[in-house]
Amino acid sequence: MNKNTKIYLSPPNIDHSEIENVVQALKSGWISPFGSYTIDFTNKLSKYFKKNILLTNSGTSSIHLALKVTEIKEGDYVLCSNFTFAATAFPILYEKAIPVFIGSEKETWNMSPEFLHSAIEDLNRKGIKPKVLIIAHIYGMPAQLDKIIDICKDNNIIIIEDAAEALGSFYYNKPLGSMGNYGIISFNGNKIITTSQGGALILPNKKSYIYAEKLAFQAKEKVDYYKHNELGYNYSTSNILAALGSAQFDKLEKKVKRRRLIFDYYLSNLEKRFTIDYQKELNHSFSNRWLSSFIFPTSLNKKIKSLLDKNNIESRFLWNPLNNHKVFKNFSYYGDSFFENRLFKNGLCLPSGDNLNDEDLNKIITIIDKNI
Ligand SMILES: Cc1ncc(COP(=O)(O)O)c(C=O)c1O
Repeated sequence: MNKNTKIYLSPPNIDHSEIENVVQALKSGWISPFGSYTIDFTNKLSKYFKKNILLTNSGTSSIHLALKVTEIKEGDYVLCSNFTFAATAFPILYEKAIPVFIGSEKETWNMSPEFLHSAIEDLNRKGIKPKVLIIAHIYGMPAQLDKIIDICKDNNIIIIEDAAEALGSFYYNKPLGSMGNYGIISFNGNKIITTSQGGALILPNKKSYIYAEKLAFQAKEKVDYYKHNELGYNYSTSNILAALGSAQFDKLEKKVKRRRLIFDYYLSNLEKRFTIDYQKELNHSFSNRWLSSFIFPTSLNKKIKSLLDKNNIESRFLWNPLNNHKVFKNFSYYGDSFFENRLFKNGLCLPSGDNLNDEDLNKIITIIDKNI
């Protein structure tokens, strides 16, 4: 990269094949949701996840559709990760359901099976039976899904995996997003594979696919005139965006490899200087290391961030736990807020794009070394 070029947190990596595909899509005249690239990208994802795939216009709309498919109703309870982006939980409120936030464990920073278990026990004591659980795999790190799945099976709870950040991550050799009843992926601008905006809903069978597809296309009934029996949404994507996604998907393995190397590089260098903490890859877990994220000793993250800002290098604080936000403040939380606030207050995500070269990485570490 040029000496003065800004280094971004997780920029898109667009090459000849993406450009070629998009040009072909435009030339084909199929720029609506229908076209050969929509079929092609869907097929690639179906093969990868071994499930039914519906391409959508975002990760958020995919979560919303997943909730609609579970037939969630106003007043139903939905257990939800607390340390995540607000988009994980917003669709619960779209449906006027009631979120219950579950805190993180220290190893993976994802939903703690212990907190989940005690939350369900407490809710049951109050006569409440949660219907759905939404679990996010933060920064690409797998949650302890085996334990979570067992708890949910025992309690008849439907699982939606929010794998928005976790394409290319595995748990027991299965791609994240494929182990819950439903899963979602995001292809927004900073994700490991991007279609600028976009997402995918991962579904277990044809029946749920057909229903989700209908809702995503304005709930048009399958007759030769306009007929709508229920509320619909415009959540579909386009052949142009699918063309971009299809080309990006072919490079997924390479992208994951590079992001993991970037994480290892930061870790080995930062560990020499500071007492840091980071997400642990537990047995049977494989993370795409979407964003290299570290916890630093008190206030060092702020110093590093402003130093990097001055040097035209983007970094970002970690998620602000959902129970801290005004929009979610009236809902219950079970967890260790001290730990999650430590992630928020002392954490920092460093540039992690797979197109960062060794020179960029060296520059980032040298700036930190020389000035802190
Ligand atoms: C954990 C998580 N969930 C959901 C989303 C929503 O995805 P999108 O931006 O594609 O709507 C994102 C990304 O923004 C995310 O990081």
